[in-house]
Amino acid sequence: MATLPNPLELRTPDHSIEELFIKRWSPRALSGDAITAAAVNSLFEAARWAPSSFNEQEWRFLYAHNESEHWSTFFDLLVEANQLWCKNAGVLIVVFSRTTFTRNGKPNSTHEFDTGLATQNLMLQAAAMGLVSHAMAGFDRGQSKRSLNVPDGFEPHCMLAIGHPGDPAELPENYQGMETPSGRKQLPEIAREGTFSFDE
Ligand SMILES: Cc1cc2nc3c(=O)[nH]c(=O)nc-3n(C[C@H](O)[C@H](O)[C@H](O)COP(=O)(O)O)c2cc1C
Repeated sequence: MATLPNPLELRTPDHSIEELFIKRWSPRALSGDAITAAAVNSLFEAARWAPSSFNEQEWRFLYAHNESEHWSTFFDLLVEANQLWCKNAGVLIVVFSRTTFTRNGKPNSTHEFDTGLATQNLMLQAAAMGLVSHAMAGFDRGQSKRSLNVPDGFEPHCMLAIGHPGDPAELPENYQGMETPSGRKQLPEIAREGTFSFDE
């Protein structure tokens, strides 16, 4: 059996950081093994401690275990290109957020930002636990609200596949080449002191 490459061997940070940031990556080869309820709780517990504007904690996560009664509802939301490999996920998650503040009903301009922070907490926790987490924009947003009975005032953002690492050789051939940890832009391309001087 082939195994997934180790991002810690293939990614080299230019500056000193915690290993966990390098360890998290988005492979598609998943084993199909189940994710325990305790593991799911740990993922959402990590998300729970994210910061948010006025501590609104506006993120909401809906999830389904593979082979549960809810699985097909979640799985059917994905575009075919994601279904191809997500069939071996242990859990699928849809990430939503409340778009207004509970305290005064005014629009919350940071609901997407806050929810991204919570989602990254979840993904880093998954990596720390040796699990794959893979975010996906490729799903039907409108249908996710209808299928999952999500009321007005909540917006869907992405889906996440959570699974155990699998065998890349079992992926369709055109997916196998993608099973290698990606690189990143250089630091001066994303961060500079002073006023805006980026090329793009
Ligand atoms: C919001 C978001 C949406 C994404 N959508 C998809 C998707 O629909 N399908 C997919 O295979 N990967 C998707 N990805 C994964 C990205 O391609 C991946 O995170 C990026 O290439 C960086 O690689 P890394 O996560 O391995 O570091 C998505 C990632 C994010 C954050």
